Amino acid sequence: MILHTIAEVREQIKNWKKEGLTIGLVPTMGALHAGHKSLIEKSVEQCDRTVVSVFVNPIQFCPGEDLDKYPRTLDADNKLCEQVGADIVFAPSPNEMYGEGHIHSNDFLTYVIPPYFYVNKLCGKSRVGHFDGVCTVVNKLFNIVRPDFAFFGQKDAQQLIIIRKMVRDLNIPVEIIPCPIVREPSGLALSSRNKYLTDGAKEDALALSKILFNIKACYDKGITDIESLKDTAFSFLNEHHNLEYLEFLDADTLDEKTVADANTRVFIAVKIGDVRLIDNIML
Ligand code: PAJ
Repeated sequence: MILHTIAEVREQIKNWKKEGLTIGLVPTMGALHAGHKSLIEKSVEQCDRTVVSVFVNPIQFCPGEDLDKYPRTLDADNKLCEQVGADIVFAPSPNEMYGEGHIHSNDFLTYVIPPYFYVNKLCGKSRVGHFDGVCTVVNKLFNIVRPDFAFFGQKDAQQLIIIRKMVRDLNIPVEIIPCPIVREPSGLALSSRNKYLTDGAKEDALALSKILFNIKACYDKGITDIESLKDTAFSFLNEHHNLEYLEFLDADTLDEKTVADANTRVFIAVKIGDVRLIDNIML
């Protein structure tokens, strides 16, 4: 069932709560692929009812980013959700979520702003305000759907860590369930933005997972010096790659690591032409 208004969703949720059913929420921006599908499947398996939100959230895009060209495939998304057994697809308009004219106008919107320490690194450095937009919309979705469980992919590990922090700090009564990264057989992590890649760029995109798998293999052989591990990346990069970051951080706190260990997550972001791709791996 596809619903477009907050009032309709609230009504349905009220009935489910009355019946004592548990509710899972899978927040997405649509253009659903097997990565999203794995989250929905997990929710359907674990919860009595599942809500998938499909909303290209304007306030998490920075000026000059791909808000206008972000793929929108609601019919196909709805079909996939039905097939997998989701109960509601919540697809609001920007006006439904933020009120007419209030988007991108900080004067008129209450934001949820995550701590600077978590934001001033990795994707937050180049995407100023991005995580404010993410936390604000996820908080709104939590208030609308009131889920018992919410499912997030480790593909966006910084986002997952920041949302967990928000839930803890604001005492939001939801349990965050982390889900593993789904990859193509080639190793490429699935992403809605892979649609932007030409065949050649897709080949270049394999560098991200190759770099991460190779770092993990070197770590497994006993190399823990971070500079040495970082150096192994360069043999996979060519003139098409613009490396934005390659960082070794604590998987829970995002503290910088001095030596690689079992709680280290390696994060990479590379621009290939106009397309910015991210990936990460646990050591
Ligand atoms: P979106 O990019 O659509 O991703 C929705 C969810 O799917 C996120 O939790 C993301 O980590 C997960 N996901 C994406 N690709 C994945 C993959 N290859 N394997 C596993 N999980 C994957 O992330 C967002 O939307 C937005 O920021 C959102 C949280 C919906 C707020 O607007």
